[in-house]
Amino acid sequence: MVLATHDPVTVPPTPYAAGMNEGAIVLQGVTKRFGDVRALDGLDLSVPPGTVYGLLGPNGAGKTTAVRVLTTLIRPDQGHARVLGLDVMERPEEVRSVIGLAGQYAAVDENLTGRENLRLIGILTHLPRPAVNPRAAELLERFELTEAADRPVRTYSGGMRRRLDLAAALVHRPPVLFLDEPTTGLDPHSRRELWRVIEELVGSGTTLLLTTQYLEEADRLADRIAVVDGGRVIAEGTAAELKARMASTTLELSFHDARTAADASELLRPLAGSPPLVEGTRVELSVDDGQRALIDALRDLDRAGLVLASVALREPSLDDVFLALTGRRTSGGGGDDPDGDRAQADRGRVPVGRKIG
Ligand SMILES: Nc1ncnc2c1ncn2[C@@H]1O[C@H](COP(=O)(O)OP(=O)(O)O)[C@@H](O)[C@H]1O
Ligand SMILES: [Mg+2]
Repeated sequence: MVLATHDPVTVPPTPYAAGMNEGAIVLQGVTKRFGDVRALDGLDLSVPPGTVYGLLGPNGAGKTTAVRVLTTLIRPDQGHARVLGLDVMERPEEVRSVIGLAGQYAAVDENLTGRENLRLIGILTHLPRPAVNPRAAELLERFELTEAADRPVRTYSGGMRRRLDLAAALVHRPPVLFLDEPTTGLDPHSRRELWRVIEELVGSGTTLLLTTQYLEEADRLADRIAVVDGGRVIAEGTAAELKARMASTTLELSFHDARTAADASELLRPLAGSPPLVEGTRVELSVDDGQRALIDALRDLDRAGLVLASVALREPSLDDVFLALTGRRTSGGGGDDPDGDRAQADRGRVPVGRKIG
């Protein structure tokens, strides 16, 4: 990927209207109802300038509603929302001039080419005319869309559309960027590609609020994470803090018979933070360092002559986090996505056809 180091895609945050002593993005006690549904129920949030903040929650948690309030698309019923110190209800025009928004559903025009889409947005956001074409070309290059630039967007893959949507949100160099579930529904390859693009962006001083249903995504991209459920924050901290508090890696072992599983559970007990869970021929160990535990377990089992059927490392998913925080599973989380957390866990599974070693 070509980086335009001489001409950054984003600019440093503009001076705050309300001084530098508050977050670049602030929600205070924000509520929003749709009929009987309480979409936001006193949401509080403060995003330090120049950081990436992850809003993590299952379907229906209120993530999109929060983003819509902050991007002036809907008015909250109660509470305050400010972006760079600008109140979204009092100064919506100014707020719009400092933000970019890319959503779960790409907002680009299917029948225009990628380049035409970006030019159009350049004109609509009042870039100086001579700057429009170079800006479009620069963003196309940056998001690896130059080859496809002059094809209609309807011929683009899902990943390409999301990249174009993200490019579109950056045309006017907003210091504050909102990404609403940027990778939901993408295949794993496109997801990783988009992560890379987002990681590059955030080096450049942009304040980014990102919503996601994937713990892995928030973990990888966000400096801090708020877990949202029922329109309010139920936990907040760095990814490491939250994971330490809420869930650990699971080493899943299965054996050909229950007797061996019981023996293995006894043998491997010292590797786990808590007593192993044994279910028939399966044993689950809750461990801190998954890689280390895997190596130790294979070695110990081999020495004891206990034969494995399969082994897998499962990183905590949003579902695990929720279970730990609320005592219940997410109802809709990842349900609309065939490549959800469960599928990711399955990819770590390694079948073992013979005795190790
Ligand atoms: N325009 C709307 N009309 C009615 N209900 C809505 C509307 N927008 C959102 N909701 C409801 O508000 C809740 C929160 O939705 P949303 O903010 O989209 O959640 P998320 O983005 O976390 O999936 C859900 O129960 C949703 O059905
Ligand atoms: Mg949403």
